[in-house]
Amino acid sequence: MKEKLLEVKDLKVYYPKYKGIFKKLAYHIKAVNGVSFSIKEGSTLSLVGESGCGKTTIGKAIISLVPVTHGSIVYDGDDITNIPEEGRKKIAQNIQIIFQDPYGSLNPKMKIGYILDEAVRVKYPGLSRARTAEKTVKLLEKIGLYSNDYDKYPHEFSGGQRQRIGIARAIAVEPKCIICDESVSALDVSIQADIINLLVDLQREEKLTYLFIAHDLSVVKYISTDVAVMYLGRIVEYGSSDQIFKTPLHPYTISLMSAVPEVESKKKKRRIILAGDVPSPVKTPSGCPFHPRCYMKREECERIELKFEEIGKGHYTACPFNRGVK
Ligand SMILES: Nc1ncnc2c1ncn2[C@@H]1O[C@H](COP(=O)(O)OP(=O)(O)O)[C@@H](O)[C@H]1O
Ligand SMILES: [Mg+2]
Repeated sequence: MKEKLLEVKDLKVYYPKYKGIFKKLAYHIKAVNGVSFSIKEGSTLSLVGESGCGKTTIGKAIISLVPVTHGSIVYDGDDITNIPEEGRKKIAQNIQIIFQDPYGSLNPKMKIGYILDEAVRVKYPGLSRARTAEKTVKLLEKIGLYSNDYDKYPHEFSGGQRQRIGIARAIAVEPKCIICDESVSALDVSIQADIINLLVDLQREEKLTYLFIAHDLSVVKYISTDVAVMYLGRIVEYGSSDQIFKTPLHPYTISLMSAVPEVESKKKKRRIILAGDVPSPVKTPSGCPFHPRCYMKREECERIELKFEEIGKGHYTACPFNRGVK
């Protein structure tokens, strides 16, 4: 198993905003502002943070759907930063992305079987129709649907089933890595669990590597090997799933954690409600960008220079103060 199948180094993605009739550059939205991580082959890194913190942008930057402003993306030793459109098909054979609801990308007039046949053909272009359909039926069974679903149309499936179809389409090309962008966020809790179990089973069977994106810590608990918590375009805490769930250090992680129901802890949990909304990535607050909303804020937080410090082995935090309960 490769230690670093996917590596993101000091990634910055700034979206330019233009104004006026001459389309003058007005400012940049710093959607991702210096993010680094690597994912071990066969493991799952979860990216968690409130809406707008830059998660989707990272996913899109990895597969060159948005231009990278700075930094690099390395897949299996190859630099895949800012690949031109012609080269993206090759990346797609290794890295697939699944969005929140694949419904939008499923042609409503096409039977599911045909949609999946097309995906199978990307991997096996020379196969006969019958052999392609055979592979599609196997795929349907693998993701928990039935062979007679082949002839159904997208609208005949529930949200959870459509997400299964999205997964089937992704694994049809036999990728090594899948980016799941809020893939279970729109589903009911019980269906979320079914889909997560399916992803975990597939990971085991196919040795898949996941970048699992969610805005909610509770959904990542059972799938993550490691967790990166993001705030305003940066990672503020990083650690193994155990470290993050048992000893969260950054006040932001702790507040997200306080919203997670039934953590196996005997201590009574106090729900920490964060004041205000996420500030805009155009004008980030000085010092620690989380300070205006932080319930542990000290006066110096408005001025401190942010450092990402390793506290335990492989456990990093950007908050210089909270060191957890000893
Ligand atoms: N194409 C775009 N053009 C300009 N700004 C964008 C674009 N896509 C996203 N943004 C902005 O970048 C920030 C990060 O967005 P996004 O990556 O979608 O966050 P998340 O997935 O965590 O909700 C947000 O402020 C969002 O409004
Ligand atoms: Mg998103």
